[in-house]
Amino acid sequence: MGIFTIFKKIVKTIRFPNSRSLSSDTSHDLVTTLWECDFLTPIKEFLERGNARVLDVATGRGTWVLECAEKYPWSNFTGVDASLNFPSVANINLMNATFLQSDVLDRLLFDDNTFDFVHIRCITLIFTDQQWENKVLKELIRVCKPGGWIELVVSDHAGYINQGPTHAHLCETAGIFFSGHDLVTIAGENIAYYLKKEGQVTEINEEIRIVPYYGSRLGRAFADHLIKFIHAYKDLLATYMGFDDQGWEDNVKLIKRELSEYRTESIMRRVYCKKIDPEQDLV
Ligand SMILES: C[S@@+](CC[C@H](N)C(=O)[O-])C[C@H]1O[C@@H](n2cnc3c(N)ncnc32)[C@H](O)[C@@H]1O
Repeated sequence: MGIFTIFKKIVKTIRFPNSRSLSSDTSHDLVTTLWECDFLTPIKEFLERGNARVLDVATGRGTWVLECAEKYPWSNFTGVDASLNFPSVANINLMNATFLQSDVLDRLLFDDNTFDFVHIRCITLIFTDQQWENKVLKELIRVCKPGGWIELVVSDHAGYINQGPTHAHLCETAGIFFSGHDLVTIAGENIAYYLKKEGQVTEINEEIRIVPYYGSRLGRAFADHLIKFIHAYKDLLATYMGFDDQGWEDNVKLIKRELSEYRTESIMRRVYCKKIDPEQDLV
């Protein structure tokens, strides 16, 4: 009897790590400190008047939703996330804040044209360029009402300013690894372009902030956040880069030192735009 050898092709799907391990409260503090506001969209008075419907996608622990719901008690805020990190109904004291589990890569649980304002923030290295272009932006636009607003806070991925050699090597190697697994994301830089390409939004505005990883309390907080972020990639990158546990730890420590030595910075963008209302806007 012959011996049959069955070759099994093991197909491993590699994804960006879900940034669950990162405290979304840290993201909240850092973004709020950089801009000193909850949003740039000119919608404050509309929210104050009441009855506005607002959606926060990938809401994490729901900090943005809870803060806004408290400030604008006559409008309604909904946070959705693929994970269940947001507070349960029993722990929410506000009547105008709701949380639901929903994955933006599937289809959000809402009908077309439901919200006056759709917000998404701090989703660095979660979606690939293809997902941004083919799913995420389409969903944000779909659930927004004509004449409603969409706002995104995103980080650039293509480049840091004043990078040290160890950090530069990590980024370069990670870039090669990710593109070899179809995980490419330079969406931060291209968000306004992708939005424009959809042909359904107008009045696209973009504000840029430089993120320092050195110096004051804010710089140190950003550096700590970046280091946690790098740690979240250990499972994917350490072996690929030839590090054992200790080697990885030493490398990350070196990167941390470089951030302040080289005065490394990066770029964060806040983009907002209005969904075209065919009855009001010239299309
Ligand atoms: C770093 S947290 C940001 C939380 C929040 N936006 C903030 O600024 O505080 C990223 C969140 O994206 C969520 N997420 C990842 N993929 C998602 C998806 N496909 N649909 C919805 N949420 C997703 C994660 O579960 C995580 O809570």
